[in-house]
Amino acid sequence: MQFPQKHSVTGTNIFSVMSGLAMQHGAINLSQGFPDFPIDSQLADFLGEGAYGSFNQYAPMHGLPMLRQAIADDFKRRYNVVLDVEQEITITPGATYGIYTAFSTLLQAGDEAILLEPSYDSYIPNIEMNGAKAVPVALVAPDFHVDWNKVRDAITQRTKALILNTPHNPTGAMWTRKDWDTLAEIVRDTDIVILSDEVYEQLVFDGEKHYSVLEHEELRQRSFVLFSFGKVFNNTGWKMGYCIAPPAYTKAFRSIHQFLSFTVNTPAQYALASHINSGLASDVRATMEGKRNYFLKLMADTAFTIHKPSKGSYFQVASYERISDMGDMDFTRWLTIEHGVATIPVSAFYHNKKDDKLIRFCFAKKEETLEKAVELLKKL
Ligand SMILES: Cc1ncc(COP(=O)(O)O)c(C=O)c1O
Repeated sequence: MQFPQKHSVTGTNIFSVMSGLAMQHGAINLSQGFPDFPIDSQLADFLGEGAYGSFNQYAPMHGLPMLRQAIADDFKRRYNVVLDVEQEITITPGATYGIYTAFSTLLQAGDEAILLEPSYDSYIPNIEMNGAKAVPVALVAPDFHVDWNKVRDAITQRTKALILNTPHNPTGAMWTRKDWDTLAEIVRDTDIVILSDEVYEQLVFDGEKHYSVLEHEELRQRSFVLFSFGKVFNNTGWKMGYCIAPPAYTKAFRSIHQFLSFTVNTPAQYALASHINSGLASDVRATMEGKRNYFLKLMADTAFTIHKPSKGSYFQVASYERISDMGDMDFTRWLTIEHGVATIPVSAFYHNKKDDKLIRFCFAKKEETLEKAVELLKKL
């Protein structure tokens, strides 16, 4: 049987490859972006409460009302943004699903969608699986800011969408208010729709503010905004998220969603709503900032170079220029197999595997995991 090739990515994604290699060689896994510490026990209790109670059948197609209300209250409190609970919020089985569905809502054969690289690895296949062409534009190292002239040059009559991510995986860079204003000016006289991937919105450090596209009145009117509970509550395996978009956009999104997953895990929705409403959820931002700081402190005794501390997310990029001149793919394999620490080569986040000899560490780990890993890295 010949199956059609729906996208240009061949083989398995780098996260599964590196996690597999880490397992095979007993390496400490700082590659894939998932925490290795327990979730808030209150959240686990609420999940049990939902499952033992009456939350085991299909939830409404766009999500449990109590969860959508909890999200709306949370956004009012944290961003002073008012959301229409009925018409602007849809619960999704994770953000990746939301990204795919938003692209599916928009794209047809012959269309183009712009993305900024390095980028989360689902963007290009998700664009291509919907028949469109992915148009990558490179961010500028070492701080990975947007080159707006390149974005302008990438726009054609066929451009239907632009996807961005802030705080950014893999680099930990963040968009400023000025970035949003520039984007608004560039797309003002076009029909380009924005997909804003804000899954790390609550994990920002050093007193920096995360600017959500929802705070930009003009851009908000043309945006799908994707969020992930997994990143905020350290329960990535629950695969729970949501999409916020204006009513007409949400209507189109739901017309696809109803025939993809239709609805999302009900006890998990109950648990997340109860956890948010309790006001007692632990401070994930402070926890993650503490981990970033601790990781940076430990890394100062290694030969790795950190050009820019991560401003947000689970990740820190580092250069190994003082250790080796291997390509980053070879370096990460070698580091895993010979030295027992798994990381991700940043070239994997580029369509053309652009190799700047940088690797990505995930610091969303227990202190002892970080300590053990850095002990091994110090030997290099
Ligand atoms: C930038 C970015 N977007 C989306 C996701 C996926 O989120 P979810 O697990 O909710 O699908 C990730 C996960 O690593 C990510 O880093």
